[in-house]
Amino acid sequence: MILVTGGAGYIGSHTVVELQQQGYEVVIVDDLSNSHSNVIDNIEKITGKKPKFACFNLADNARTAAFFAEHTIEAVIHFAAHKYVGESVREPLRYYYNNFLSTLNILQAMQKHGILHFVFSSSCTVYGQAEVLPVTEQSPVKPAECPYGNTKQVIEEILRDICLADAYFQVISLRYFNPIGAHDSALIGELPLGVPQNLVPYITQTAIGIRDSLQVFGDDYNTNDGTCLRDYIHVVDLAKAHVVALDRLLHGKMGNNYETFNIGTGTPTSVLEIVHAFEKVSNKQLPYTIVGRRQGDVEKVWADTTLANTVLGWKAEKNLEEMMRSAWNWELALKEKINL
Ligand code: UFG
Repeated sequence: MILVTGGAGYIGSHTVVELQQQGYEVVIVDDLSNSHSNVIDNIEKITGKKPKFACFNLADNARTAAFFAEHTIEAVIHFAAHKYVGESVREPLRYYYNNFLSTLNILQAMQKHGILHFVFSSSCTVYGQAEVLPVTEQSPVKPAECPYGNTKQVIEEILRDICLADAYFQVISLRYFNPIGAHDSALIGELPLGVPQNLVPYITQTAIGIRDSLQVFGDDYNTNDGTCLRDYIHVVDLAKAHVVALDRLLHGKMGNNYETFNIGTGTPTSVLEIVHAFEKVSNKQLPYTIVGRRQGDVEKVWADTTLANTVLGWKAEKNLEEMMRSAWNWELALKEKINL
């Protein structure tokens, strides 16, 4: 059985779907602090199979130890974490407490039970503003800009140290670029609490009338149209990367017992290009204003995906139009549910 922590969340739920569709048995641990229990039912609607589910916070050592004693786990995919950049600056202790303790508790329990396979949700945030683009896995890791980013960097270091100490322990850290979009069924997607911090949910909420207007943070960057460049990736493509990583771990294909892969498309897209792609698929004009830069934003980052394409054997398949269409369909489906 595969443990997916944070499996009721945005990336986690899409990964559980892909795992189940490839025949994996999944158990989710999620405290539902940033998700809903109906995600579990919707996963069942998509795959025809209800994943096992335990609701608790993995920062609770005793509860985590008891969970591992009660289940036979073959591998862990670890998503569960607080994830908002701005919030982490305001509440660093909460971020460090939750993200570190949950990871340490899981790793301790894995060691105790001899569980050797771990996939970690890392982020391109570790590269900061890279001098050379696109970034490869060898690009320098920059000092973290925020406590959230710091938890990703430090956990990568912890995992590397454990792998050095134990040659049998195997880890893949996936450094995600900017996941957007939703499952084609529109049954699962991103459910931001309150005002969305990320671009695409803000766009879809504006188009549906929940927000008045998008604020574009800066158009004076050194880019094609002056707005920031990112590597946006469809969440289903990202989910599939986890299945490939898990196969690699479980089938003895690792070249090294600690591996890192960039998971992106390799294509930079500006904020205004995202806006226009959205307008095209939705047939709506999006109200937006250009405002000042957002503090802490990097100007541009996108992935060199050669390693993921060749060594991992995974490649993103969905284009920007598919990403925006699925994000919009998801927003429309949410509205329909609220109106019922
Ligand atoms: N943006 C706007 N208006 C908004 C929201 C975002 O113009 O209302 C712009 C941002 O300035 C940025 C781009 O849209 O240029 C993307 O912003 P997001 O907040 O969607 O994504 P980020 O690239 O800032 O952050 C993402 C993840 C973080 C991760 C980071 C790593 O959300 O978890 O990538 O670079 F740390």
